[in-house]
Amino acid sequence: MSLTLVNSGKVRELYAVGDDRLLMVASDRMSAFDVIMAEPIPDKGRVLTAMTVHWLDVLSDLAPSHLITADPAGMPAEAAEVGDIAGRAMLVRKADMLPIECIVRGYLAGSGWKEYQKSGTLHGMALPTGLQQADRLPEPMFTPSTKATEGHDENISYDQAVDLVGKELASAARDLCVEAYRRAHAAAEEQGIIVADTKFELGIIDGRLAICDEVLTPDSSRFWPADQWQPGTNPPSYDKQPLRDWLENSGWDKTPPPPSLPPEIVTETSERYIAGYERICGKRLADWYGAKG
Ligand SMILES: Nc1ncnc2c1ncn2[C@@H]1O[C@H](COP(=O)(O)OP(=O)(O)OP(=O)(O)O)[C@@H](O)[C@H]1O
Ligand SMILES: [Mg+2]
Repeated sequence: MSLTLVNSGKVRELYAVGDDRLLMVASDRMSAFDVIMAEPIPDKGRVLTAMTVHWLDVLSDLAPSHLITADPAGMPAEAAEVGDIAGRAMLVRKADMLPIECIVRGYLAGSGWKEYQKSGTLHGMALPTGLQQADRLPEPMFTPSTKATEGHDENISYDQAVDLVGKELASAARDLCVEAYRRAHAAAEEQGIIVADTKFELGIIDGRLAICDEVLTPDSSRFWPADQWQPGTNPPSYDKQPLRDWLENSGWDKTPPPPSLPPEIVTETSERYIAGYERICGKRLADWYGAKG
């Protein structure tokens, strides 16, 4: 039997394994300003996978997850067709995915900050006046979006999320994601990192709401170094800053093709990802599957 590619995203490939399982493979591809760089970032796929597995473990008493295993020894034989995926792959249960992205924001950044500047609201909910960019919100807020198959996801109100998934699921998703965010924020804060916001994707497995997709990675979250957080300014993102700075200074107009990256930027970015994992999760990447000895 061979694997069927069911989705190729900007960063990951998804293969069907029989009817009820998926093989999710994180590549080393790096996107910046929504464009994929030509050069892979060594170990990025392993970092994304190791982080997801770390957080699913931390959150395991809160909700079930889709993860079956990330251990290469537990992969189906056909996984060998995909090449060397040790440490970059997760075998997961296929879920009936909710058609929303479950974003939780603890700080005012990105599209949330843009909306607030325009209307004083966040996803239509009123906020105190006088907040600055990157300010901490009074409470973490559930700010869902649609899952666009093309183009950008669209922010929606809680009521629109209810229209899409029903009252019961919307409220269960909100409660689960806000609590998961609180726990992650508290854990990362102890390591000097702020989780400004993050996106969860939930699905139904065996009739239960389960955490799916990637979890609390730099690709699905805004991580800020706490010592560089200064309301009124846009804090640097922990992982992408060296790359973004270089790209900004390169004169590139942010449309494909991207400029080719100097080796030191590739190395620095890879080291950032690894350091982020080791700092936030308190583990060593060398101890994760797929380490080159
Ligand atoms: N356990 C699961 N069962 C079924 N689908 C899942 C599961 N976990 C994640 N998914 C879905 O798999 C897909 C993963 O796609 P991926 O994130 O790699 O690319 P994308 O979302 O199409 O594009 P982008 O690169 O912009 O993220 C998403 O549609 C996600 O909702
Ligand atoms: Mg995705």
